[in-house]
Amino acid sequence: MSKAGWPGKPSKLSSSSFDDDLPEATRETLTSQPQKKLPPLMGIVGLAIVVAIGGAGWWAVSRNPIASPPVSSPSANNANPAGAPAGTVLNHYPYPESPAAELEPITADGGLKLRKAAAQAYKEMAAAAQAEGISLMPLSAFRSIAEQEQVFLSLKQQRIQTAEQRAAVSAPPGYSEHHTGYAIDIGDGNVPATNLSPDFEQTAAFKWLQANAPRYNFEMSFPKNNKQGVSYEPWHWRFVGDRQSLETFFKARGQQPSNPGVVSPTVTPEQPSSESP
Ligand code: DAL
Ligand code: ZN
Repeated sequence: MSKAGWPGKPSKLSSSSFDDDLPEATRETLTSQPQKKLPPLMGIVGLAIVVAIGGAGWWAVSRNPIASPPVSSPSANNANPAGAPAGTVLNHYPYPESPAAELEPITADGGLKLRKAAAQAYKEMAAAAQAEGISLMPLSAFRSIAEQEQVFLSLKQQRIQTAEQRAAVSAPPGYSEHHTGYAIDIGDGNVPATNLSPDFEQTAAFKWLQANAPRYNFEMSFPKNNKQGVSYEPWHWRFVGDRQSLETFFKARGQQPSNPGVVSPTVTPEQPSSESP
């Protein structure tokens, strides 16, 4: 917490330095009271008490400068696997694959699918964006565990990355939110060069999502400095608009929706995170 607004050690104990430490309203109240004259000895004793109390207070503050709110400790830390939450692998939580019957297409060719409630919400959201001239472009939605194996293992090999480096930008198979059918990667149809890149945050589509996605029960899964230590993915959004999706993402996890829980990121991906849905 900033120390701004807290008085430093007064350089001299003048009436004006006491005054400066008082809220204006209090100063007003004190100065508008009728002044009673104290006998000289009582005045000196009173001043000594005030100086002693003020000095002790200043000493206490300078030793423990403001009770700042506790900084949350990293609950997931790639550099410290022993501190990672139970059940995670490389800081990613396990997710079951959505049953095929629960999935619904969100694109005309049927190539991309979400779980029904998420698909409905996404389509409504995309239509609302379109009405405002914003082009939300779905890039990846439901992914099977086999598909995630390709994303994780083949890219890891191609880029000569360790499993830990790869996990900063991509979940291991069996541990991707995309398995659930509730997660979607979104691009800006007018700026495809920013697809799956942190630069997506500069686009009109991202700004629209930031302002409007919660209306449709979508939230960013991996904001900057997220607790999981996953790199920033402004394109990756998850649906949290019904009981099942909430339970999928938050049950027994001690996490709240949209709670980035700011901690220092423990992983700096060596490769840009683009092309890592
Ligand atoms: N890119 C995210 C972490 C995933 O692979 O699920
Ligand atoms: Zn994604």
